[in-house]
Amino acid sequence: MNKERGRFGSQLGVVLASAGSAVGLGNIWRFPTEVGKGGGAAFILIYLSFIFLLAMPVMLSEFIIGRSARSNAISAFQKLAPGKPWVVTGMMGVLGGFLVLSFYSVVAGWTLHYVIVSGLGQLHIQGGADFGQAFAAFVSHPWRPILYLAIFLLLTHLVVVGGIHHGIERYSKLMMPLLFVIIIVLVGFSLAMPGAAEGIRFLLRPDLSKLTPDVVLSAMGQAFFSLSVGIGCLVTYASYFSQETRLVKSAMNVCVIDTLVAVLSGFIIFPTVFSIGIAPDAGPGLVFITLPNVFALTFGQMPFLGYVFSLLFYVLLLLAALTSSISMHEICTAFISEHFSTSRRKATVIVTAICLVLGSFCSLSFGPWKDVTLLGRGFFDLFDFTVTKFLMPLGGLLMTLFVGWYLDRQLVEQQLTNNGSVPVRLMRPLLFLIRWVVPIGILAIFLNEILPLFIP
Ligand code: ALA
Repeated sequence: MNKERGRFGSQLGVVLASAGSAVGLGNIWRFPTEVGKGGGAAFILIYLSFIFLLAMPVMLSEFIIGRSARSNAISAFQKLAPGKPWVVTGMMGVLGGFLVLSFYSVVAGWTLHYVIVSGLGQLHIQGGADFGQAFAAFVSHPWRPILYLAIFLLLTHLVVVGGIHHGIERYSKLMMPLLFVIIIVLVGFSLAMPGAAEGIRFLLRPDLSKLTPDVVLSAMGQAFFSLSVGIGCLVTYASYFSQETRLVKSAMNVCVIDTLVAVLSGFIIFPTVFSIGIAPDAGPGLVFITLPNVFALTFGQMPFLGYVFSLLFYVLLLLAALTSSISMHEICTAFISEHFSTSRRKATVIVTAICLVLGSFCSLSFGPWKDVTLLGRGFFDLFDFTVTKFLMPLGGLLMTLFVGWYLDRQLVEQQLTNNGSVPVRLMRPLLFLIRWVVPIGILAIFLNEILPLFIP
């Protein structure tokens, strides 16, 4: 149990790894979909306030818990609150890590397939396949998506098995800058498209008529999912932070990077989609069906540009998925390795194997197991629902209550100020957010999303 724990080697590594955990399919695939449904800039404004007022304080609470306990998500609560039921928060986190990694890797596997298909030059050809049908045929195939899921999990495995410094930090430092370069190139491409101005107008002009309570709640859910808060990812990462890591500054940096990527993804997708006059609220098929159609139509006359654009886009999506999946894997690996005193290598194999089995169930729920349900849902839906609608908000709520009301105030302030060496001017407002605003806000979203499901 007392094995030397891994450490991040630099502040840059801390920010890039944590931002990597945040930046993912949620930013590039889910965010534009939600913006499309929620009235463009109106949704973005609300989303931004939730990021900084709700999700950021949860992130900070995770950092405080992780760095003061210096252990995995479950033992952290056992150490800080021995014999108390708070440990359930950590257990929910590890369970959440397994569930997210399982269903997330299915979509990441689809992305990998699209990297290959676009690399083979099949996604930008005018008059080519019916992309909707091709997508449906692929995801419902009994074993092909499972093969891609397995390859994606293997990639995640290879990063995590390398440890904190030589695995997660090293690859985050490589992948995150690459991700940014690709985003900038794609934004450039996208803005140069004919009709792009319409997409930009949509992003910048708030359509307040679309703002329903439901949209407000979606914005809150999106903020939590996007920052990966509430399931102990960042408790685990923070347990590897050094004593010098500035928690408030790091949390702010991660939020800014995550938001920037989400907004820039909007600048890639909307000008592109508007350039051929497709409605912006195409839903989850936006990335796998609408975009290939757009590539085919827009680049019919410029095949080389179309090839580069589509390939870069799916590589971007894959990189973003990978930087997030490694953080989910790490929640589980850290727990298994420390709790059962096994080597990191063994723990990584166990997590990968479990997620391969669970992920296969999720994948099959789009095909041969379409009619197999548990609690009225297919496996993919069940896992997605359990994590995003239940474990993340409840975990976020418990963690802010733990830090705001249970932990010794002096310990919290010591963590925020690095034992008094870093002034934190916003200490009181931050603590107010953690103690009051976040719990009440999360309780509101939680009750609003969960109660209607049980009370007809
Ligand atoms: N935070 C990760 C994402 O946005 C889960 O995809």
